[in-house]
Amino acid sequence: MLNSKQIRKSFLNFFKDKGHKIVPSSPVVPYDDPTLLFTNAGMNQFKDVLLGTGTRDYKRAADTQKCIRAGGKHNDLEEVGHDGYHHTFFEMLGNWSFGDYYKKEAIKWAWELLTEVWKLPKEKFWATVYTTDDEAYELWQSETDIEHSHILRFGEKDNFWEMGETGPCGPCSEIHIDLTDAGCKPEDINSGTEDVIEIWNLVFIQYNRDEQGNLHTLPSRHIDTGMGFERIVRVIQNKKSNYETDIFERLIKKTAEITGKTYTDENIPSINAIADHIRALCFAIADGAIPSNEGRGYVLRRILRRASRLARKLDYHNPILCDLVDEAADYFSDIFPEVKQKSEYIKSVIKTEEDNFNLTLDRGIELFNDVFETIKNNKEKIFPGESAFKLYDTYGFPLDLTEVMAKEKGFTVDRQGFEKEMNIQKERARAARKDEAAETEKLINFEADIKKYNPVYNPYKVILDYIDITVLNIYKIENSNKQILLVNYNPFYSESGGQISDTGVLEFGELKFRVIKSFNNHYIEIENPDNIDLAGKSLKAKVDYNRREAIKKNHSATHLLNEALREVLGNHVKQMGSLVSEEYLRFDFPHFQKVSSKQINMIEEIVNKKITEGIQVNTLENISVERANEIPNVKKIFGEKYGSEVRVVVMDNDFSVEFCGGTHVENTKDIGLFKIIKEESISSGVRRIFAITGTGIIRYINNRLDESERECRDLNTVKSREILTSISEKRKILSGTNYRDTEKLKELIDFTEEIGRLTEKIKAEEFESRKKADKKKIKKKIKEHYRIIDEHLKSADEQYGFKVIAAELIIDDIEELKECGEYLKTKMKNGTGLLAGITGDKINLICVVSDNLVKEKGLNAGRIVSQVAKELGGGGGGRANYATAGGRDTSKLKDVLSDFSKFLAKGKPTQKN
Ligand code: ALA
Repeated sequence: MLNSKQIRKSFLNFFKDKGHKIVPSSPVVPYDDPTLLFTNAGMNQFKDVLLGTGTRDYKRAADTQKCIRAGGKHNDLEEVGHDGYHHTFFEMLGNWSFGDYYKKEAIKWAWELLTEVWKLPKEKFWATVYTTDDEAYELWQSETDIEHSHILRFGEKDNFWEMGETGPCGPCSEIHIDLTDAGCKPEDINSGTEDVIEIWNLVFIQYNRDEQGNLHTLPSRHIDTGMGFERIVRVIQNKKSNYETDIFERLIKKTAEITGKTYTDENIPSINAIADHIRALCFAIADGAIPSNEGRGYVLRRILRRASRLARKLDYHNPILCDLVDEAADYFSDIFPEVKQKSEYIKSVIKTEEDNFNLTLDRGIELFNDVFETIKNNKEKIFPGESAFKLYDTYGFPLDLTEVMAKEKGFTVDRQGFEKEMNIQKERARAARKDEAAETEKLINFEADIKKYNPVYNPYKVILDYIDITVLNIYKIENSNKQILLVNYNPFYSESGGQISDTGVLEFGELKFRVIKSFNNHYIEIENPDNIDLAGKSLKAKVDYNRREAIKKNHSATHLLNEALREVLGNHVKQMGSLVSEEYLRFDFPHFQKVSSKQINMIEEIVNKKITEGIQVNTLENISVERANEIPNVKKIFGEKYGSEVRVVVMDNDFSVEFCGGTHVENTKDIGLFKIIKEESISSGVRRIFAITGTGIIRYINNRLDESERECRDLNTVKSREILTSISEKRKILSGTNYRDTEKLKELIDFTEEIGRLTEKIKAEEFESRKKADKKKIKKKIKEHYRIIDEHLKSADEQYGFKVIAAELIIDDIEELKECGEYLKTKMKNGTGLLAGITGDKINLICVVSDNLVKEKGLNAGRIVSQVAKELGGGGGGRANYATAGGRDTSKLKDVLSDFSKFLAKGKPTQKN
């Protein structure tokens, strides 16, 4: 029996022998086709050739194409798991003719491969053609030996194939196989039975459907075929389902192993669907998609969440999908090595997603079950939309997941109710946003103003020391020293696209008004504390161009960074948000791992290389969105709305091309040095980078030097004083360095890093040597304590026939007293002693009784010390020969020590005398 890899190979070899070029699969994420969520057919990569707008240097091609059908026109998601032959991800084997051979060869060769190469039984095949396609009907009769009654005609739904709502299309001829033992009937074809399935579709591409739905005849006619790889493997390997072929073997085994379930009846649908879903996730992520809340990212999220929920059906509550990546990667390692190459990345993306959903999944399922309990006996089998929305909003259950769960119980979800809740929430969010803008809107009617006054806004082109402007209208803000002015000509850049607003001053004769910001292109907010009436006045506007220069550098660097990130981290990186200020730039992007310091260095290197190359920065002003969209490689900010005309900023034609209205340097050289100063995570799967350029670098170096200087002064060691000297030398160099002198700045940054490391080292050394010195001091102190104890012992009163001593030791640490207690214990041969030491506001006590006295006289250290402690407002106890206690009342300590012998009486059960 052929294994799946041999089957794939024999398909490709067959068409290679028939003069086809074997081409690689295109990515499953189609970056260049906005009409598609995912690559859904082998012909996607040839769309331009089929439409006649592109060419290839071959006329025949064949391949195996990675496809995902989980949204858009072709969507098999709902079928997965319920039957054995639908998938979200699958391979499509295909052969193409671009204006070359046509129906005859397509039909003849398909038949030859199926019946002669693979030797499948002829009588089991059925062919369908488009109702009016007599040509194909007759070709099946003349070119093959198919049973003539097995050629059927079907309508548009089954036999007119289209890629999407728009694009290449045409009538098709499908090949179906009958896998029943008894033999099927004509009405079983296209009826959705598991044992009578379509395996190959031969499309005769003739038309292009436009956005209005009209068909246009194409200049040439083409062949586009697609065979379900998993299906043909099932047929050749004679299995009951695609999932029983060697393609899925390891995935299924591993899923069963992890969950501890057998691959039998009630578990099969869940295990199959998990095995299916993980393949889709692996390929989509390998090709650059990531789970998110919109578009294809949301399709991935939905697939993943369905799979997580299925794991629950298998009673498994931990992340599971991330542990299946290796199985998928291994199977594909020869034909699609990208999964293996990126497996660590894929695992981390999936694991993060699974972990996130796992936080709420079980509680969501509980909520679902609780709601279901209350409605299960209802006549109408409808799950409330409000609950579905709660599951969506609070527990992250995509609507389709709730629908799947409802369907399992024979219920449907009230979609309208769900949408209603969704709209209410959207409205709430909109209202909150509006509140913020409402205050200004109360003052200003933007649209009416602009119509009435026709002001001009041009922040880039004219750069003059000052510009004469006229105040057209004033908006007073109550209880504020600020005012808003509408001016005839606004040279201040208004905050937009992440770039902050310009600032500067307005001058009226001798009077100066600080410009706080410019907004909505035509309005300037100023400080006017004395309420000078500026209506109709002519003013001199002075933009702070130094600040603007710094902003420009950071903005152009942001564009370069955007590209460098993609080069180093991968195509999934896109701009999610940015801030461009005069001090730094900030850039947010999706990425599931920390950016390593090695990667940071690579990113910096790429940006700095583009800077030293001295690339001219060009802007295409006012071009139509349609034209701009055609520029290869053009980047837009995700989710941003653009007008009908846009501005495009280009750096090094194919390196950075972005829609952008901001201000930029003329040449990348003007940026100076680029440096990343911080990288962090701002939410799950989103990273943020801070970077600086231009004179910001000089400021940064100065600050670092300040910091080291402060530390070295504090340390005040020989080495740190040496560093201070070298710092002041470098400062001199720095003060003579221009921001364009990037080599010197790099050296200086290296220096700051070097002395940073050095001071850290000195600090650590200092710490160690201080610790050592402390230890020495303690040793010395303890020696002194021992001396005191010795003296007490020597001069001890022996009125009871044994020694009685009591002493206070000045200690810093309770350990000191303990050491002394041990010492006294070994020294005290015939007697009893009390040691006291104060730490903080606590009295620590140790009492020792020599062993002979314990035995002969019944003295007990525990009892003695507890009496002492009681007197001092505390307590404690211990063994007969050694005990510890604590007290609070320090004022009594002196008396207690001098009267220690009186506690012996109380501590002794039978007292002599
Ligand atoms: N493009 C055709 C299909 O996907 C072959 O069925």
